[in-house]
Amino acid sequence: AAERTLVLVKPDGVRRGLSGEVLRRIEAKGYTLAAVELKSATPELLAEHYAEHAGKPFYGPLVEFMLSGPILAVVAEGQGVIAGFRSLAGATNPTEAAPGTIRGDLARDWGLKVQQNLVHGSDSVESAEREIALWFPHL
Ligand code: CMP
Repeated sequence: AAERTLVLVKPDGVRRGLSGEVLRRIEAKGYTLAAVELKSATPELLAEHYAEHAGKPFYGPLVEFMLSGPILAVVAEGQGVIAGFRSLAGATNPTEAAPGTIRGDLARDWGLKVQQNLVHGSDSVESAEREIALWFPHL
């Protein structure tokens, strides 16, 4: 089966009208959209999605931010898509993200307690399959 990754356009991206721009970059790179759905997160879903960050200082603000509006959940597919999307997304810190990347071109530091960095992308095959099962239980 082709490799899959979970991409989230976070509430800041949806609010700013950048959902289409993120989808455009995924498709322009040559990856396939296997699922696209506008969702509202829940505290329970985020606790599972962000289990590895529980207890970190930015965890509370992160969950609050992710509950602040709708999220566009996307499954993207293609050879190397997990690393490929992370390279399209750029560095976690939007100030450090290179121009040409989604965060480098479209996100900035707002001086808030959490990085409002527009997108999430799974970081390994294991987390991709785990996260896809959480956000798209029917896939
Ligand atoms: P994401 O890839 O969704 O995974 C965890 C998120 O936590 C990350 O994107 C950022 O939004 C946020 N984050 C990660 N590290 C930090 C940090 N050091 N300070 C604030 N927010 C962070």
